[in-house]
Amino acid sequence: MKLAIIFITCIFRSIASADILQNPDFELPISNLPTNSTSPFVLLNENNTIPGWTFQGEVQYVTAGANVSLPRNGHAIMLGQDGKINQTFTANGDLIQYLLTFTLSLASRNCKANVSLVVSAPDSSAEFSFTQKFGKEAWEVYGHQLGTWGNGESVNLILQSQVTDTDPNSTCWPVVDTLFLKTLGPLAQNSDNLLPNGGFELGPAFLDSSGEGVLLISEPSLVESALQQWTIMGTVKYINSKNYFIPEGKAAIEIVSGVSAGIQTAKTLSDGSNYNLEFMLGDANDSCSGELLVGVGAGSSAQNFSLQSNGSGAVKKYSMTFKGGPSPTQITFLSYKTTQREDGVFCGPVIDGVVLRASHGHKSNLQPILIALFFLAILQMSELL
Ligand SMILES: *[C@@H]1O[C@H](CO)[C@@H](O)[C@H](O)[C@H]1NC(C)=O
Ligand SMILES: *[C@@H]1O[C@H](CO)[C@@H](O)[C@H](O)[C@H]1NC(C)=O
Ligand SMILES: *[C@@H]1O[C@H](CO)[C@@H](O)[C@H](O)[C@H]1NC(C)=O
Ligand SMILES: *[C@@H]1O[C@H](CO)[C@@H](O)[C@H](O)[C@H]1NC(C)=O
Ligand SMILES: *[C@@H]1O[C@H](CO)[C@@H](O)[C@H](O)[C@H]1NC(C)=O
Ligand SMILES: *[C@@H]1O[C@H](CO)[C@@H](O)[C@H](O)[C@H]1NC(C)=O
Ligand SMILES: *[C@@H]1O[C@H](CO)[C@@H](O)[C@H](O)[C@H]1NC(C)=O
Ligand SMILES: *[C@@H]1O[C@H](CO)[C@@H](O)[C@H](O)[C@H]1NC(C)=O
Ligand SMILES: *[C@@H]1O[C@H](CO)[C@@H](O)[C@H](O)[C@H]1NC(C)=O
Repeated sequence: MKLAIIFITCIFRSIASADILQNPDFELPISNLPTNSTSPFVLLNENNTIPGWTFQGEVQYVTAGANVSLPRNGHAIMLGQDGKINQTFTANGDLIQYLLTFTLSLASRNCKANVSLVVSAPDSSAEFSFTQKFGKEAWEVYGHQLGTWGNGESVNLILQSQVTDTDPNSTCWPVVDTLFLKTLGPLAQNSDNLLPNGGFELGPAFLDSSGEGVLLISEPSLVESALQQWTIMGTVKYINSKNYFIPEGKAAIEIVSGVSAGIQTAKTLSDGSNYNLEFMLGDANDSCSGELLVGVGAGSSAQNFSLQSNGSGAVKKYSMTFKGGPSPTQITFLSYKTTQREDGVFCGPVIDGVVLRASHGHKSNLQPILIALFFLAILQMSELL
C-alpha cells in the first residue's frame, strides 16, 4: 500500500523593474531651483514644480545638508501641512504585484510632534511613522505592497502627510526619498517545500542607500503583505546577505519589535496527517546579544525554541512535527522577548529556511499496524486450513 499525496506549491517569479516611476528619487530638479539659496527647503508652487509628480498643499523640495540627512546626499520631498504628491503609472502586461520600497526621515527643525506618512494606491493604504527604534541611520527604509494590477490599468500612487491639528510650526513633517518599485509575477511550481516563500527570498527590494534592511509593519492580510505569503505582526526587518548574516539564501526576517511580533502563514493540509516543520533560528550578526526566544505554532502544536546569542552570526536548525487540521493550518513564528543592542537599537531573532513537508513518520507509524494485520490474516488463514 502506498500513499501518494500530490502537493501543489508555488514560488513566485520575480521581475525587477526600476523604471515604472518617473523621477522616483526626486533628483530631477524642480523647475526654478535657486542655485544660491541658503535654505535647504524650497516651497513648491506654480512656478516651482517637480518633474513626474503632481503636488497639493505644503510640499517642500529638500536638499541634503546640515539640517537634513538624506540617502546619497541628494534631494527629497518634505510633506508639510496637507502636503500630498502623486504619480500615475500604467500596469502593463499580466497581473503582477507591485512592491514599494522607500526611505522616510524627518528634517531636523524645532519640532515636537511627529506626523506620519500615508502611502496609498487604488487597493491599499498604509501609514508609516519615523521611529528610529530599529536602526542608527538618519532615515528608515520601509517596504509595502501597493497592490496587484495588469492589463494596462492605471495606478495612482499617492503620498501624503497625515492631517494634524497640532501647531504646524512645531510639527516634524515626513521627508520621503528613493522610491523603488519591484514587481513580482505569477506563480511557478515547487514540490520540495509545501510553503511558498519559506526562505523569504521574495519580498520588497533592498536599497543600496541603506545598510539596515527594510522595515515591514503590521499587515494581517496574506495577500496584501509585502512579504509574499506571510502576514506580519508588530514590526519585522527584512534583511539581506549584503549587510547581515543570513542563514540561507539572500534574505531573511529579523523580528525586531519584541514580544508578540512575528510572522504567520496558513496552508491547507490533509486533516490528521503528520507534517514536519523545519526552520533556522539565528542572529543577524548585528550585535544583538542575549537569549532569543521564539514560539512556533503549527496547527494545534506549539513549541518554544531559543538561541543564546552573542550577536556575531550564529544559527541553529530546528524541527517539529504536527498534525494537519480540517481548516487551513496556521504556522506562526513569534518572539517572546524584547531585545535591544547596547546602543539601544531594537533587534531580535532571525528566522529563515522554513520548510514544510509531509512527515515520513506517517508511513512508519502505519507500518507496524500493517505488519500486525498481515500476520493476523496469515494466522486466521492457517486456522482455516
Ligand atoms: C542669488 O543669486 C541671484 C542672482 O543670481 C541674486 O539676485 C540673489 O540675491 C542671490 N541670493 C542670495 C540669497 O544670495
Ligand atoms: C509665478 O510667477 C509669476 C510670473 O513671474 C508670478 O506672477 C507669480 O506670482 C509667481 N507665483 C508664485 C506662487 O510665486
Ligand atoms: C538649519 O540648521 C541651522 C543650524 O545647523 C539652524 O540655525 C537653521 O535655523 C536651520 N534652518 C532651518 C530652515 O531649519
Ligand atoms: C494626481 O492625481 C490627480 C487626481 O487626484 C490626477 O488628476 C493627476 O493626473 C495625478 N498626477 C499624476 C502626475 O499622475
Ligand atoms: C519624533 O522622532 C524623533 C526622531 O526619532 C524622536 O526623537 C522623537 O521622540 C519623536 N517625537 C515624538 C513626539 O514621537
Ligand atoms: C508659524 O510660523 C510662521 C512664520 O514662520 C508664522 O507666520 C505663523 O503664525 C506660525 N504659526 C503658528 C500657528 O504659530
Ligand atoms: C513559551 O515561552 C513563553 C514565555 O516564556 C511562555 O509564556 C509559553 O507558555 C511558552 N510556550 C510553550 C509552548 O512552552
Ligand atoms: C560568539 O559565539 C560563537 C559561538 O556561537 C563563538 O565562536 C564566538 O567566539 C563568540 N564571540 C564572542 C565575542 O563571545
Ligand atoms: C560577522 O560580521 C563580521 C564583520 O562585521 C565578519 O567578520 C564575520 O565574518 C561575520 N560573521 C558571520 C557569521 O557572518
